[in-house]
Amino acid sequence: MGKNAVAVLTQSTVGQKVVMATTGLIMVGWLALHMFGNLLVFVGKHEFDAYAEWIQSGFGASPEFLWLMRVFMLAAIALHIRAAVALTARNRAARPNRYAGGHQLRRTTYAARFMLLGGLVLLAFLAFHLAHLTLGVLHEPLHGQAFVRGQAYDNLMVGLSNPVVAAFYIVANLALGAHLWHGVTSGLQTLGVNHPRYDGLKAAAGIAVPGLIVGGNILIALGVLLGVAAA
Ligand code: HEM
Repeated sequence: MGKNAVAVLTQSTVGQKVVMATTGLIMVGWLALHMFGNLLVFVGKHEFDAYAEWIQSGFGASPEFLWLMRVFMLAAIALHIRAAVALTARNRAARPNRYAGGHQLRRTTYAARFMLLGGLVLLAFLAFHLAHLTLGVLHEPLHGQAFVRGQAYDNLMVGLSNPVVAAFYIVANLALGAHLWHGVTSGLQTLGVNHPRYDGLKAAAGIAVPGLIVGGNILIALGVLLGVAAA
């Protein structure tokens, strides 16, 4: 396929939606892995630190592999945003009176706007989260305690024992849930699960996937805040 054909394909509405769904799926994969790993906070400090170390070692491969994955994830996020902006602009440009189903169009515009806003909240959360628990630069100013590299469990305990910070994590996760609810359902539709027979399955996945990820994350935040995580 020529370069132009690839450009035409990815820049079409369907192409942008496929980019959006695929990059979204990649991020959901990370979120599921991350949530299950974070649940180790209920098992023990040793196990949690070993999991954090496993990430930092490049998932057991090499530190270079971690950087490769980071670049890959950044590219996925950038493509996801680019497609979102392009689709929103296209949606706005479409004149409602050209469509018989004007009501339907208004509804999708609301959903798109809501998704864009939710996405921005998630982006802000991610920047905060990386500064908070990966780079550690917010630790001292927020918690008055030094961030100790390699002590992910202790950093997390200090970080999420702060009720304001824990509340922010919980609110951001609720925004994530709303984003995934619509994202998973419409992403599956884009990726070809569009026979009416599978409507129930799509609706169920739209609830189960965010339910699991967000439910697990909130459980972790509350577990640390309420002091029920393992020592
Ligand atoms: C309660 C929920 C969460 C907890 C307790 C948590 C905890 C952590 C911890 C402890 C680290 C550092 C791990 C290490 O040093 O190896 C980390 C890294 C990270 N988290 Fe989270 N996280 C949560 C939710 C999220 C969410 C919702 C996202 C995405 C929107 C996310 C994205 C990331 C990323 C991208 C990294 C950096 C991995 C790296 O490149 O080193 N986390 N998280």
